[in-house]
Amino acid sequence: MRDVAIVAAGMTPFGELWQWSLRDLFGAAALEALRHARTDHLDAIYVGNMSGGQFVGQEHLGPLMADQLGMAGVPATRVESACASGGAALRAAFLEVASGMSDLVLAAGVEKMNDGADVTSVLASAADQESEVYHGVTFPGLYALIARAHMETHGTTLEDLAVVSVKNHRHGAHNPKAQFRQEVTVDQVMSSALVADPLRLLHCSPVSDGAAAVLLCPLGRAKEFTDRPVKIRASGMATSAMALADRRDPAFLDAVSVAGGRAYTMAGLGPADIDVAEVHDCFTIAELCVLEALCFTERGRAGEATRAGETTLGGRIPVNTSGGLKAKGHPVGATGIAQVIEIFEQLRGEAGERQVPDAAVGLAQNMGGSGASAVVHIFERV
Ligand code: COA
Repeated sequence: MRDVAIVAAGMTPFGELWQWSLRDLFGAAALEALRHARTDHLDAIYVGNMSGGQFVGQEHLGPLMADQLGMAGVPATRVESACASGGAALRAAFLEVASGMSDLVLAAGVEKMNDGADVTSVLASAADQESEVYHGVTFPGLYALIARAHMETHGTTLEDLAVVSVKNHRHGAHNPKAQFRQEVTVDQVMSSALVADPLRLLHCSPVSDGAAAVLLCPLGRAKEFTDRPVKIRASGMATSAMALADRRDPAFLDAVSVAGGRAYTMAGLGPADIDVAEVHDCFTIAELCVLEALCFTERGRAGEATRAGETTLGGRIPVNTSGGLKAKGHPVGATGIAQVIEIFEQLRGEAGERQVPDAAVGLAQNMGGSGASAVVHIFERV
């Protein structure tokens, strides 16, 4: 396998972007990445997207988006793994470059959720229809069950969950592309509207539109496109039982643990080597479960570590410096690539007020549904 680098990135703001269509969003992010790399050539395109068909009635995104770039003819494939579609698209692009099949590959993600669709029902199509959705469960409902299980097993408190939101809103306040740039307090989180007990409005990621894109090439050619490439050290992916009821422990994310283990092994690194991480905080409880599955904290201790400031900027392992899904926003198919862009900027020293001093190794973790698919990538400053 060849070494692979990311050489350029492009991203729209995240939020309610009524003025932009699905293809406009994709085009804006992709063309920004191409502009940064000073190239108008691509060998292949991967488009991460969860549900263009249900959100805006548009499937068959590969050719549509290649054409949008004026590149009809280039091989282009849509990749779907629910909210992990972006991470899965990056993995597909990584494998294509690493294999020697192609040199310049675009990995992008896009979603337009604010266009009139019944968002809660569309998102629920990523859960187990027969054993969960049929009985009325929604995504906030599934993560509320995970939160209850974590609280019961490990003594995690409502305040532990609230602190995740407070931290990510504080980080997001420094991100010009974030959907929410206001800070919130523990009291505000704990008194916000109840969505699915115990999860309240300020425990949830929002409904978002947005797109993000990165350009990959062999590390050996990276200097043709940038003087600051970022190497992809490892890619790990895994799946687990879809339905929460079929899992050994609903408070533990097996797929994240296995994907993370595969990435650590491939990189020859461990959790202590990671300087900065972006993790999938679609609900506050998700961030705590991921921290434990990736061994950033002991099992059951993520709430305590978060309260102690270990995961905040300036802490032992800064997590979600972008604001995370909670504050930056969560256009589901774009999220996995946006996480990678935060790590790309951190490792290039371009994160401004969010910068982790001297960050050299970063990790991005993206997951689908209630964690049944998970993708973990590890990156290194060159
Ligand atoms: N965090 C903070 N503020 C939020 C918010 C969020 N997650 N969602 C909405 N808001 C704000 C809006 O900006 C709006 O503020 P305003 O009155 O100042 O304009 C207000 O709350 C009401 O917004 P609205 O769009 O009416 O909220 P809603 O009740 O329709 O939706 C949720 C709120 C939490 C139900 C919705 O954001 C949601 O479903 N989130 C989860 C998405 C999800 O499941 N993603 C997949 C994860 S696996």
